[in-house]
Amino acid sequence: MTQLNIDIEKGAAAPSPYLPQMARVLAAEQMTDTERLLRLEMEHGKALGYQPGQFVSVTVFGVGEAPISITSSPTQGKPFELCVRSVGMVTNKLRDVKAGDRLGIRGPFGNHFDYEAMKGHDVLFAAGGLGLAPMRSLIRYVLDNRKDYGKVTILMGAREPKLLLYRAELDAWAARKDCTCLLTVDRPDTAWKGNTGVITKLFKKIEVDAAKTFAVIVGPPVMFKFTVLEALAEGVPEHRIICSLERHMKCGVGKCGHCQIRGVYVCRDGPVFTYEQVKKLREGI
Ligand SMILES: Cc1cc2nc3c(=O)[nH]c(=O)nc-3n(C[C@H](O)[C@H](O)[C@H](O)COP(=O)(O)OP(=O)(O)OC[C@H]3O[C@@H](n4cnc5c(N)ncnc54)[C@H](O)[C@@H]3O)c2cc1C
Ligand code: FES
Repeated sequence: MTQLNIDIEKGAAAPSPYLPQMARVLAAEQMTDTERLLRLEMEHGKALGYQPGQFVSVTVFGVGEAPISITSSPTQGKPFELCVRSVGMVTNKLRDVKAGDRLGIRGPFGNHFDYEAMKGHDVLFAAGGLGLAPMRSLIRYVLDNRKDYGKVTILMGAREPKLLLYRAELDAWAARKDCTCLLTVDRPDTAWKGNTGVITKLFKKIEVDAAKTFAVIVGPPVMFKFTVLEALAEGVPEHRIICSLERHMKCGVGKCGHCQIRGVYVCRDGPVFTYEQVKKLREGI
C-alpha cells in the first residue's frame, strides 16, 4: 500500500487516506452505561479540519477500526469529540480509553451538513438516541452562528431518561431564549417530569413554517420513518429534509464498495443525504 500521496497543487506530501494519523485522548467521560465521550487532539498539532456531519475512522491498534461521527463543531477549536456506543470489538475497547491514550484516526471523511444552504432558514432538529451524536456538531455550529439562522427548534427522544445523551447541554439549550428544545422519553422513571411518548408527539407542541424550514432528522430507522412523515405532513419539502445514514464501512473513501447502496457510496457521497435522495435508496433507511 502506498503510504504517501503527493499533493500536486501544494507540492507537498499529503498523508495517505489509508494510513491512520496518531491522536491523543485529552479527556474521556462515560455518558451513559453504553456511550462514552472522547476528546482528542491530533499529535501533528494541526486541526483535524472537519465539517459538521463528517466522520472519522478510529483505529484501536491490534483490534481494528470503526467509523464514528465527529460530535463536536469546528467552532469549538482544535480538539474534536467522538461519542462512542459500545456494541462490539472496537467500540468495547474504546470504552476503556482514558486521557493520555493514543488512537489512530483516518479522515475526516464524507460530505457534511450544508449549513450554508440553511442560512436564513428555520432549522428543526429531531434526534433519536445516538442520532444526537452527529447532529450535535451541526446544532453547535448553528447556535455558535445564531444570527445567520431563523427559528431553531431541537426535539430529542430517548427510550428512558438515563439514556438521554448530553443531558446538561440539552438542559442548557432548553434554557436559552433564542431556541426551543423539547425532550421526550418512551419510558419515564419516577423523577421524570417532562414529555412522554414518541418524538412525533412533540410536533403538536411546535409551529413549523414549512416554507422556510430545514428539518434535520437523525435516529434509528423507525424513528426516522415516522418523523419524516410528520415533517412531510407539516409541508417541509423532501429536499429540505436532511438525514445521516449508517452503513458497514471499511475504506471510508469510496474504494472498497462495502457501504454501497445502488451505486451510491455512503462513505463518499454521504453520510448526509436529503430525503429526496434516500427515498430512492429504500434499504438505506
Ligand atoms: C458514518 C458512520 C458514523 C457512525 N457514527 C457513530 C457514532 O458517532 N457513534 C457510534 O457509537 N457509532 C457510530 N457508528 C457505528 C459504528 O461504526 C459501529 O457501531 C462500529 O463500527 C461497530 O464496530 P465494532 O468493532 O465495535 O463492532 P463489531 O464487533 O464489528 O460488530 C458489533 C455489532 O455492530 C454491528 N455493526 C458493525 N459495524 C456497523 C456499522 N458501521 N453500522 C451499524 N452497525 C454496525 C455489527 O453488525 C454487529 O451487530 C457510525 C457508523 C457510520 C457508518
Ligand atoms: S467504505 Fe469503502 S467504499 Fe465506502
